[in-house]
Amino acid sequence: MPIVCEKIPSGEWSRKSEYVGIEEFSWVNETLRPNIPLASKWSMRPCFLSAKYERSAEIVENFQVYPDDTWLVSFPKCGTTWTQELVWQLCNFDLATESPLRSRFPFLELGCITYDAFKLDMISILQKKSPPRFIKTHLPAHLLPKQIWSVKPKIVYVTRNVKDAAVSYYHHYKNLQHYKASFEDFMDAFLTDKVVHAPYDSHVVDFWNMRNEENILFLTFEDMKRDHPSVIRKTAEFLGKSFTDEQIETLAEHLSFDKMIKNDAVNYRKEVNQYHQICNTKKDDDFNFIRKGQIGTYRQEMSAEMIERFDKWIEERLTKCKADPQVFEICNPKN
Ligand code: A3P
Repeated sequence: MPIVCEKIPSGEWSRKSEYVGIEEFSWVNETLRPNIPLASKWSMRPCFLSAKYERSAEIVENFQVYPDDTWLVSFPKCGTTWTQELVWQLCNFDLATESPLRSRFPFLELGCITYDAFKLDMISILQKKSPPRFIKTHLPAHLLPKQIWSVKPKIVYVTRNVKDAAVSYYHHYKNLQHYKASFEDFMDAFLTDKVVHAPYDSHVVDFWNMRNEENILFLTFEDMKRDHPSVIRKTAEFLGKSFTDEQIETLAEHLSFDKMIKNDAVNYRKEVNQYHQICNTKKDDDFNFIRKGQIGTYRQEMSAEMIERFDKWIEERLTKCKADPQVFEICNPKN
């Protein structure tokens, strides 16, 4: 089998990578580079996943892809939910829907990486779903289902600066994975690629390198914050949809932070509550899945030393990936 799942012996790092109900983790990698020109752009770095992923690796690899699927790929906490709702609404324009985003736009590998007690077998749900399907995944390019590269469905990729993504991921771990180690411990885990779906850097670089493919659209959280209507228009065009200026404005309003945080179809309030019921735990009083939604809030939580560590780390990592200068600015903007 070309996918290898190499269990990581537990050690001091395990506490820093704590993920509820998961005892072991693996480096998951694809050993055979597919014989397609695009694959020459991939870093093929091992991905940190729950060891239970091994049970589903082959199913994910052989997952059937359809030309009218729309995929949303991202590293965790980079604006996935926000972009999912954008994409789904551009294709369906049903602002009043009460159907939860998780059902409209399932997360492919969710059940393959989380605690069995959560019973989140999204693959079966997706296999039975009638087209056109909307599929979210955090898997890096080389671990995506093989058919993606021949069937070529539309793929929207979204990324975000690394320091905000890491801070957002810490709050996610703390409130949705019962993470008990410290903020500093989490950042150590992030910087050593021992958080689920790491590494961040090659995830972004691989998709940046494929951004000019006809079926791939590369977006950033920061662009969505700075000029949302332009991103909405660009995404609509990519998806082959056309809207009036008024509709774009209505959609921008629907997707605003203030509206999304109150919209139970997208804010995961029910899912967060269910999670705490199953785990018999409590979230931070002020935690919402849609949390702060700002650029640069890492400055309120990271010490000057931590910021320096991240700056150095991302510089080294992107240099190693031979990333374009624009990627340095996307992953770690100077201002
Ligand atoms: P913060 O934790 O920094 O607030 P993902 O969906 O990939 O898990 O990303 C979650 C991040 O996107 C969170 O960041 C969340 O607040 C932010 N987000 C979600 N919806 C948003 C919106 N409408 N506007 C701005 N940010 C949003």
